[in-house]
Amino acid sequence: MKVAFFSTQPYDREYFLRYNTRHDLRFFDAQLNKSTVSLAYGCDAVCAFVNDVLDNAVIQLLSKSGIELIALRCAGYNNVDLIATSLYSVKVVRVPAYSPHAVAEHAVALILTLNRKTHKAYNRVREGNFSLDKLIGFDLYGKTVGVIGTGKIGEVFCHIMKGFGCRVLAFDLIANRELEAKGVEYLPLVELLPQCDIISLHCPLTDQTRHLINTDTINLMKPGVMLINTSRGALINTQATIQALKIGRIGYLGIDVYEQEDKLFFYNRSEEIIPDDNIMRLMSFPNVLVTSHQGFFTDEALTQIAQTTLQNIADFEDDKPLINKVG
Ligand code: NAI
Repeated sequence: MKVAFFSTQPYDREYFLRYNTRHDLRFFDAQLNKSTVSLAYGCDAVCAFVNDVLDNAVIQLLSKSGIELIALRCAGYNNVDLIATSLYSVKVVRVPAYSPHAVAEHAVALILTLNRKTHKAYNRVREGNFSLDKLIGFDLYGKTVGVIGTGKIGEVFCHIMKGFGCRVLAFDLIANRELEAKGVEYLPLVELLPQCDIISLHCPLTDQTRHLINTDTINLMKPGVMLINTSRGALINTQATIQALKIGRIGYLGIDVYEQEDKLFFYNRSEEIIPDDNIMRLMSFPNVLVTSHQGFFTDEALTQIAQTTLQNIADFEDDKPLINKVG
């Protein structure tokens, strides 16, 4: 099949070309949106990533050009209008699981960096500054960690935090019995929030979870709480979070995802004027750490993403059941 890849990065080319044996892959750097969709014309499928725009208009144009498959090379599908894909009979497949360890471990990296300030220590020491002033952290042992969403990634994260000797509380629509047996305590959100020293988000972005972190929920949290988001940016109301950071209500913020990341992340913008005042404000806080959606970025995850996506496309071509179909 001829497959148009959008938002291609060098590592996409590297891993997909390494594992591809049968498809004609056409790589485009451009993000998929209404003005770039024509790049896919003449192809049989598109392969898209987290910030590609798959709204009604784009899906209609893809369908008109004869494309019947959207292969997402990610787990989340909040950027796809599933009503439109159903209306225009375009099938959507994804990579439901690729190393949940990669994302869970990145959440832990954010916690450890914010807490022990290794990013600051690294720079200080390189400049011959061996002072410990302002590098004070806290023991993770004995602290209470709240996990919102205990699916594949949240589950791994719970195990890691248990390993640190933390008390782990969880909120999910469905409790994971194995986690409960290991001592993870499920609570309603309003009961969980006031007890936690650290809160980590691992639920998908849906209509119910959009701006789950807002002024009201922040006000329920312990003053000085550490908030970690490696899931999707819009789980957090950025404005409310900035206000809470300004008054110390939130003590630390570690984010790998950002509400408006589609206009920023994955590209080198170091020589550009960044027009997004919110991200610039966030980055001005000494207790905020931003990474640009790299939670998934391990060799194991990239291998699995390439292999599963290529298999999803092959299954479609061979008219086999689409085990990773969305919608
Ligand atoms: P999953 O589907 O295995 O788990 C999601 C969990 O969230 C489920 O247990 C579900 O019941 C729960 N949930 C759903 N709605 C909820 C609600 N309203 N309140 C509380 N819990 C709710 O998904 P997985 O694989 O663990 O991934 C979680 C999220 O991580 C993805 O949706 C994606 O947004 C994000 N992600 C981020 C990556 C990164 O590179 N930073 C890479 C991969 C995923």
